[in-house]
Amino acid sequence: PKVIYIDAQDNQFEADVNVGQNLMDGAVDNMIDGILGECGGVMSCATCHCYVDPAWTDKIPEPSELEEDMLGMVIEPQENSRLSCQIEMTEALDGIVVRLPRSQY
Ligand code: FES
Repeated sequence: PKVIYIDAQDNQFEADVNVGQNLMDGAVDNMIDGILGECGGVMSCATCHCYVDPAWTDKIPEPSELEEDMLGMVIEPQENSRLSCQIEMTEALDGIVVRLPRSQY
């Protein structure tokens, strides 16, 4: 399945992300700048912050309490902020659109 990553300059990147892989790994594997994933996906860095397109927010599981806490530390949080390492790819998410923040710090 495909993920559409759109950076803060509106550049759009389409990437194949395997089912079961998370969207942070998918971005890093496809060399998409804007998602760093410094902790490798164990929810201790928040450098994988992204904004899930509103059309898709209902289709992914709610963030855990720990993820909510981590989202409190990102710069420019929004309603649809998520940690991309906590979003696991499924067939149902084929075509999901996530936007990347201007900066992870
Ligand atoms: Fe560190 Fe997601 S990769 S919190």
